Amino acid sequence: MAPASPPPHPDSPASPARLVVLVSGSGTNLQALLDAIADEGAAGYGAEIVAVGADRADIAGLGRAERAGLPTFVCRVKDYADRAAWDRALAEATARYAPDLVISAGFMKIVGAEFLARFGGRTVNTHPALLPSFPGAHGVRDALAYGAKVTGCTVHFVDDGVDTGPIIAQGVVEIRDEDDESALHERIKEVERTLLVEVVGRLARHGYRIEGRKVRIS
Ligand code: GAR
Repeated sequence: MAPASPPPHPDSPASPARLVVLVSGSGTNLQALLDAIADEGAAGYGAEIVAVGADRADIAGLGRAERAGLPTFVCRVKDYADRAAWDRALAEATARYAPDLVISAGFMKIVGAEFLARFGGRTVNTHPALLPSFPGAHGVRDALAYGAKVTGCTVHFVDDGVDTGPIIAQGVVEIRDEDDESALHERIKEVERTLLVEVVGRLARHGYRIEGRKVRIS
């Protein structure tokens, strides 16, 4: 299926790019994007958030969107006959806002074939570990349990694997002897928010190409 709107690319970056942000929890990465857009203006930052979607209701992330005056939508897996129907509904809800980029910012679901048919190559995820190490839902806990000395965060394009898509940027965080999962995750999130804001702005302002596993930002 053809994408709902063309992705930004070097010759014709949308200005400002339309972002749909997907969240599942506290939404501090969403807030960092909102703050950057408020500080710089959509034209200066190069992007505007046009809607926020979630896989559950009553989460802080949706509250942040509502306070910012943004439209929201919720697609809960349990409301659909099966995972494919949920994925189709998520893709349709997202497509209504005609995004140039979809930002999975703490969205704790794997999107499926229908979503990727529409938004593959323009869906960006942020993950709290240095991929390809420690993919999945427990990236922070798994790095700590493994005894790694450094970890961090990875901003990458989403493909049909679990955290396997082309890497755009990474940030490194040292693991301290006294760290527990929560303390380490908080330090990762400080780096992650800055990285996500920087990467999304660059993609939106400059356009990009994905060549195999390499992401070239113009
Ligand atoms: C972030 O650390 C993000 O990397 C992680 O959830 C957190 C969301 O924080 N995502 C994953 O673990 C996905 N596998 P936030 O809701 O405060 O933005």
